[in-house]
Amino acid sequence: MALDLFSPVNLGSISLKNRMVMAPLTRNRAAEGGVPQAINVTYYEQRATAGLIITEATPISAMAHGYPALPGIYTDAQVAGWKKVTDAVHAKGGKIVIQLWHVGRISHPSLLPNGAIPVAPSAVKPAGQAFTYQGLLDYVEPRALDASELPSIVADYVHATQCALAAGFDGVEIHAANGYLIDQFLRDGSNKRTDNYGGSFENRARFLMEVTKAVVDVAGADKVGIRISPVNPFNDMQDSDPQALFNYVTSELNQFNLAYLHAIEGDMTGKDNTFDFLALRKIFKGSYMANLAFDKARGNTAIASGHADVIAYGVPFIANPDLVERFRTDAPLNTADSSTFYGGTEKGYTDYPFLNA
Ligand code: PHB
Repeated sequence: MALDLFSPVNLGSISLKNRMVMAPLTRNRAAEGGVPQAINVTYYEQRATAGLIITEATPISAMAHGYPALPGIYTDAQVAGWKKVTDAVHAKGGKIVIQLWHVGRISHPSLLPNGAIPVAPSAVKPAGQAFTYQGLLDYVEPRALDASELPSIVADYVHATQCALAAGFDGVEIHAANGYLIDQFLRDGSNKRTDNYGGSFENRARFLMEVTKAVVDVAGADKVGIRISPVNPFNDMQDSDPQALFNYVTSELNQFNLAYLHAIEGDMTGKDNTFDFLALRKIFKGSYMANLAFDKARGNTAIASGHADVIAYGVPFIANPDLVERFRTDAPLNTADSSTFYGGTEKGYTDYPFLNA
């Protein structure tokens, strides 16, 4: 029988009961100190029928924050808060990994310790505005990191990974997508460095490889995935040759035997482009997760054809905690309310109805 969304699969050491993954989704509903709270537990528990949940992007340090009310994964209180989430998801038979995040230049001094200037590979200010507690404020020119500072950021990834394991996660996903710190190193629109971390593909990928090696050393490669977005212009990103760059990055990642590679196959708004994602899928020796406005039919086709091993669904999982059951029975879907995506209360978070509710 052909494989489909409902076929079990292993991603590294993580065994999934189906191939529908809940994509990482920023929801801005953590308590003071970046601590996950009761409504966060309920939200993730409600979605535990997904084959795998990837948490919202989660800062690895105080300097990694770029939006209000994000949960972190670097203090004891945050670990205790997340432990309640992982326990609840596991009790419902689900699997959950945490997405490790450093935003780099996509931040604002008002969100950082002592009003610090955001850091980046190069002092290139992104176009646009930051979401802050004071509303939208223009981005500032980031401070270019000295190469001597990078080991301490790698150490922050290591510490966050240790915290994630202590919190009971089944693994971690390294966020190397969407114009945040690692992606800022990868793509040449934001990386103008002339040292070992800029210029050639090898140099621009160096920081990602150092982070990956360090995280793999702590967690084991079979618990580590990586997310990339080769052509997503979000956060003022561009690259002069994304196909060659990401073919290179993907082939270099093969050295680690990772649990999976997660690719946003376009520009996040669902628009098509000319990038050849099947080429990445063929280069990568491990499991491949595709994400970009998939529905049930396209997800099944992608799996049956071998284009992807698993499909990550974002907005549909916001509005349908029981998305798996709805796809299985071809039931109608709830419509997502985008006005409650970022911040707020239970409304638009834990109050979407289940089937037969
Ligand atoms: C967002 O908060 O809008 C956001 C966060 C992480 C992403 C993409 C978007 O990877």
